[in-house]
Amino acid sequence: MKKRVLVSGGAGYIGSHVTVELVNAGYDVLVADNMSNCDMTCFEGVKKITGKDDIPFECIDCCDDAAVQKLFSDYRIDAVIHFAAYKAVGESVAEPVKYYRNNLDSFLNILEASKTHGGCNVLFSSSATVYGETDELPVTENSPRKPATSPYGNTKQICEDILRDVVKASAVYEPMEQGASRNGQIKGIALRYFNPIGAHPSALIGELPRGVPNNLVPFITQTAIGKRECLSIFGNDYPTPDGTCLRDYIDVVDLAKAHVAAVARMLDGKMKESYEIFNIGTGRPVSVSELVTAFEKVNGLKLNYKYTPRRPGDVMAIWADPSLANEELGWTAERTVEETLASAWAWEKHLAENR
Ligand code: UFG
Repeated sequence: MKKRVLVSGGAGYIGSHVTVELVNAGYDVLVADNMSNCDMTCFEGVKKITGKDDIPFECIDCCDDAAVQKLFSDYRIDAVIHFAAYKAVGESVAEPVKYYRNNLDSFLNILEASKTHGGCNVLFSSSATVYGETDELPVTENSPRKPATSPYGNTKQICEDILRDVVKASAVYEPMEQGASRNGQIKGIALRYFNPIGAHPSALIGELPRGVPNNLVPFITQTAIGKRECLSIFGNDYPTPDGTCLRDYIDVVDLAKAHVAAVARMLDGKMKESYEIFNIGTGRPVSVSELVTAFEKVNGLKLNYKYTPRRPGDVMAIWADPSLANEELGWTAERTVEETLASAWAWEKHLAENR
């Protein structure tokens, strides 16, 4: 029987790319989303890309305990990938209660329903933000987690810890058979993403920022298309080779494939520990200036940009050591930053023509 994967937040940016890759890999996928930060554009795109018109979609809020319980009663769920969370760093600083309430409640409800329905394999969408102001570069999974620099980052740290504890508590049941998820046991993987960027090569799904984008690449593409006048590069006086910050930009389709590899590891009984953590990045630091120049070159255009003061809260440099994911998941980032930036631009143009 095909395994079914619940993707909470599956209509969003990363969730929609993951849904495509799961369907392509032969899984039954169930998408749940409350549409609080997206519309049906990406879910419609997922159906077009996969050619599957009948992917089940449930419009529920994972903070609604009863709705999550009902979801688990209505469908046999073998694994959950939990994306449903708020993700704007600045907003989380201004509205911490909103972030703690939403991001913790939704995950707790997923875990509780997993338990009451006989156990499950749970993949948590975490972030490199859990490393805080790290000075160990590149960061490995064993690099210490420094205090979070925002409530958003803190929710990622707390949710990782909750998953670790829940997995530990459930291990008192009988050991899990190969891939079985019905003996009360909960197994967990946290994927720590670096900076996801880009869009599907079909240009049918991509990032849909609400209002002024916080993140670099949507700001670049919106500037290039004329929605924004000028990109501000936040700080060119960092002690880095060109003075701008260094990040590890991971292509969203590569990132999605890492989820498929992690889900397969859980469902095929290949985990070495009941709770595992993997960095998902390329291992290559790229500066903001380099990214802007690469965008201009690959897309043959000139971007209007200026250097402005540093953005409060930014870390100077962070990039991954992805070797654990490379070895254990058999996964490696494949797309070049140029290909990814071309896909981001194609998506922005698709939006301009279709919305
Ligand atoms: N930047 C600019 N101008 C902009 C936007 C960003 O110069 O208009 C710069 C930032 O200063 C930073 C780099 O581009 O140096 C990347 O910034 P993003 O906002 O795109 O990404 P961050 O690295 O700040 O944040 C990302 C995710 C968070 C996550 C964090 C930590 O968006 O969810 O990585 O790993 F928490």
